[in-house]
Formats: sequence, C-alpha cells, structure tokens
Amino acid sequence: MQELISQYLAEIGQFSTQNAEELEQFRIKFLSKKGLIPDLFEDFKNVPPEQRREVGQALNDLKNKAQDKVNLLKEQIEAGATEVKSGIDLSLPVDFMQLGSRHPLSIIRNEIVQIFSRIGFVVAEGLDIEDDWHNFTALNFQQDHPARDMQDTFFIERDPEIVLRTHTSPVQIRAMELRKPPLREIYPGRVYRNEAISARAHCIFHQVEGLYVDLDVSFADLKQTLYYFAHEMFGEGTRVRFRPSYFPFTEPSAEMDITCFVCGGKGCPICKYSGWVEILGCGMVDPSVLENCGIDSEEYTGFAFGMGIERIAILKYRIQDIRLFFENDVRFLRQFTGVV
Ligand code: DAH
Repeated sequence: MQELISQYLAEIGQFSTQNAEELEQFRIKFLSKKGLIPDLFEDFKNVPPEQRREVGQALNDLKNKAQDKVNLLKEQIEAGATEVKSGIDLSLPVDFMQLGSRHPLSIIRNEIVQIFSRIGFVVAEGLDIEDDWHNFTALNFQQDHPARDMQDTFFIERDPEIVLRTHTSPVQIRAMELRKPPLREIYPGRVYRNEAISARAHCIFHQVEGLYVDLDVSFADLKQTLYYFAHEMFGEGTRVRFRPSYFPFTEPSAEMDITCFVCGGKGCPICKYSGWVEILGCGMVDPSVLENCGIDSEEYTGFAFGMGIERIAILKYRIQDIRLFFENDVRFLRQFTGVV
C-alpha cells in the first residue's frame, strides 16, 4: 500500500494540463467513486491496527494533494478560457444584476382588471384616435357642451371630426355597436386632454371604464358591484358613499367616494381633511345612449363607471407629482421592484 501511495503521489505531483478534458480524466482516475484513491481507502480495513494511524495519515494526505491539484488546475483553466473569450477578469467583485419592475400604472390596471374578471367582466379595447360620434355625440354631449371646447380636446387639424379620445367612455359605444347584450366588460386605456402639464395634471393619462348591460340591471347591481370592487381594491374595512352627480351619458349619475385609506377617515392632507376620497364616476346608462347603439332601451338597462388609474396610483402610493409616471426615471420606477 505504501508503495502505491508513493507512486500515486509522484504521478499527481508531475501532472499538469491546460485541457479540461484531460483534467477530468485525471480526476476520474484518482478521485471518482471507483478511482484509485477510494480503492486504497477500501483496502484500509486490511491494515493491521498498529499501522493504521500512519497509513491513514498518508492516505488522507494523498487524497488532499489530488483534490488540491484538481482545484488548482480547474481554476487556471477557467480563468484562461474566459480571459481568452471575453477579457473578463474573474477576480473582480460581483456586480449584482438589477431586477426590473412593473410600471405603477400597470400594477394598478392589472389589479383592477383581475378584480373585475373574478366576477365575469371581460377586457376589451377601443381606439385612441376617435371620431366625434363615439367620443361625444353618441354619449349625449350636446353640440355646445363645454367638454368639446378647444381647451380640453385635441382635434386633428385637417378634420375637426377626429379627436384624441378624452375619456374611455367611447369604448362603451363601440362595444354596444359591435356586440349585443348581455355585456359585462371593462375597458382600460389611455386618454388625452389639452391641459397644461403640471404636478397635478397631464395631457395624457389612463382610465378604466366598465359597462354592464342586460335584462333587469338596476342601480342596486351597480352599487353592489362597486362595493365589491372597493373592498377588493382598498381593503375590507373600506366604507363607500355615493354622491349624486351629472354625466351626459348616465341617468341617474353618481360619484363614488371611499374612506381615505391613508388616514382611515380621520382626516389628512391626502383627503383634504374630509376623511373621503373620490374614486370614480358611474351611473345607469342613459336610455338614449342604448338607442344610439341600436339597443332597445325598453328591454335592456345597464350601468357604467369610469375611473382614473393615475388618481388611484397617486392615492395608493402617495405620489406627489403626476409627471413622474411619464418620465421613466429609474429611481422612481425602482421603488416598485417586486410589486406585482
Ligand atoms: N367619462 C367620465 C370622465 O372622463 C368618467 C365616467 C363617469 C365614466 C361616469 C362612466 C360613467 O362610465 O358612468 O370624467
């Protein structure tokens, strides 16, 4: 056994290679399960007790030398290979890879879509470039309605009939023209208004519109659907109130407030010390809007709602300046890493 040990030691000492395949052969020969060194360890049980100490030490020493040799050559080969391939210095400290993040507006939109899809709403999309009929006329905006004013709407210069949509409500019209009830749909999308850009207003922002048209749809259905939404989106303890309001395309119309989720209703700068924040507009689809789309308003009723995604994101993440959503500053976006 001692003879074999010295023979192996000599071989290991002399061995050298820059070839990974050769090194692997060497490792298999000496160190693999059925290799020469484990073989010797097998024979160790036949060593008489008084020699065990000495032989055991020599065996361990042999095994360590072989393993050290493999490690050393492996390092040399790898360093050599990468240096040749890419000039990378493997001894440099690691620079951790940066994880990307979802945009906060996408996070909120996805959450809204998921909540409504759980109760059977499907997603559809309309067009960013709309005509006057879909954006205004079919939604009951009178010819002299202030929303049509040049101040608010981006018109296409050569054709005043064509506008950048000012809200997602025209998608309701397109849906009802194309498909007939029962309709249970939501429409996320970008909208455009001719506003001076500031911390509180932007000329592009995003909305999610909802539409439900079927037999016997009532205001109670509207309220129950939006209660469900508010609790899923803002938490079980959220209280909800409806205030009468006016939109040309719904009758009756309401705005929905929820208890301020920052202060829990006690009053804070976010809710302007009222304890409530406005979240969306809603109402029963005006019968003449149904008729404009060829749906019999004697037979069918429906409700609609619309909310601003930026507004919800601003409240939820306490963002001070709406422009941050559109600047793609990674210092802002990085804060949403890991939020899905
Ligand atoms: N389109 C409205 C806006 O941009 C929001 C809205 C209000 C949508 C009431 C609706 C609704 O569907 O029923 O201000």
